[in-house]
Amino acid sequence: PKESEDNLRSPICCIMGHVDTGKTKLLDCIRGTNVQGGEAGGITQQIGATYFPAENIRERTKELKADVKLKVPGLLVIDTPGHESFTNLRSRGSGLCDIAVLVVDIMHGLEPQTIESLNLLKMRNTKFIVALNKVDRLYGWKTCHNAPIEKAMKQQSRDVKKQFETQLVQIITQFKEQGLNTELNNMDKEMRETYRIVPTSAISGEGIPDLLLVLTKLTEKTMVENLTYRNEVQCTVLEVKVIEGLGTTIDVVLGPIVTSIRALLTPHPMNELRVKGTYQNHRAIKGAQGIKITASGLEHAIAGAALYVVGPHDDLEEVKETAMGDMKSVLSRIDKSGEGVCVQASTLGSLETLLEFLKTPEVNIPVRGISIGTVHKKDVMKASVMLEKKKEFATILAFDVKVTPEAWKLADDLGVKIFMADIIYHLFDQFKGYINNLKE
Ligand code: GTP
Ligand code: MG
Ligand code: NA
Repeated sequence: PKESEDNLRSPICCIMGHVDTGKTKLLDCIRGTNVQGGEAGGITQQIGATYFPAENIRERTKELKADVKLKVPGLLVIDTPGHESFTNLRSRGSGLCDIAVLVVDIMHGLEPQTIESLNLLKMRNTKFIVALNKVDRLYGWKTCHNAPIEKAMKQQSRDVKKQFETQLVQIITQFKEQGLNTELNNMDKEMRETYRIVPTSAISGEGIPDLLLVLTKLTEKTMVENLTYRNEVQCTVLEVKVIEGLGTTIDVVLGPIVTSIRALLTPHPMNELRVKGTYQNHRAIKGAQGIKITASGLEHAIAGAALYVVGPHDDLEEVKETAMGDMKSVLSRIDKSGEGVCVQASTLGSLETLLEFLKTPEVNIPVRGISIGTVHKKDVMKASVMLEKKKEFATILAFDVKVTPEAWKLADDLGVKIFMADIIYHLFDQFKGYINNLKE
């Protein structure tokens, strides 16, 4: 593929924000689907991916009569969970994206996971826009289905406009407290170094045209450099799962590439990767795309790991080395003395996060063993080695994983402690509490 401005890959856009601000609903509104209605407890618990082709975006922004060239073929949109337990998924999602939408509930303002998301985006220097969602909740709001926000605002009473203004000013102040300059989006204004706020309703669709337009403008303005196709694979495993009739599959996000892997499946455009449906078969595919790969041996794949493709001129051993690099950085965290706790997490990414945290001076807990996935009897056996040497280290810190009943029973019998949590700080608190108890 040509590396030029005319040959841009699709940007990856991540939707982030506090729980229930309307992230999935916004995507439903754009897709014309009801994924949110099918979620257990109305809560997103997985990373999702949907491909929006450029012609759909063009159609939805038509009314704004903006002169956008839309050089990108489309937009790959990644939905992330807002619930506090899923920091690892938010981190994985934000690590993949070129740009992001930070969704804020206009009635609630900035909330804990808004700030957490904000910090993840700041850390990676990712440009984003703010969707100020649920404008229809302003008391007395007059519905204007799918209208550009300026048009919808004109229909509102003076009182609704006043409520809107009050909320907006408050939220801009809250952003300022986080060190961020934001302003209400104005289509006629050039993009500046401020972060744009686009008011939306995911229920009645006001502001959706604006949201899509600002998104594409932002990508094309700032991302040309990063969006040209490259002849290399950048791929991250999102989920490992078994789908009836397909065997074990992995959900991955393919970066800047034109390739021809053996078995490539994608959902149809405007459909969610995580929703069961029919798939399109591809011989070759351009990034960015959320794809399913079926192959043997995938049951050993690790979510959060990178995926590499071996070309005809590549040295397989070298590629293997590179792939192992990620694992090595994790393995290097293990205490050489052989004394410490055992740590178990759901994915490579969350294991890394946990090990990083345990190493910080304020925490400083040595680790002698690591594992990924459910805690089994063998893991308890491994941890029990410490009983003779340092009883407090005969402990498993289990982050976002299950423990089998057999493992619980064995741990009870042997005196091995298992602390479970889906929030890293809670694990630390439990473990410190336990140690302080032992000392008394
Ligand atoms: P998590 O993924 O669980 O973090 O939530 P989310 O941010 O994806 O929010 P979701 O789409 O699940 O919406 C949460 C609730 O808010 C649902 O009951 C939606 O119907 C409602 N909701 C979302 N957007 C809007 C909106 O613009 N207006 C109104 N009135 N309700 C909304
Ligand atoms: Mg959701
Ligand atoms: Na929700």
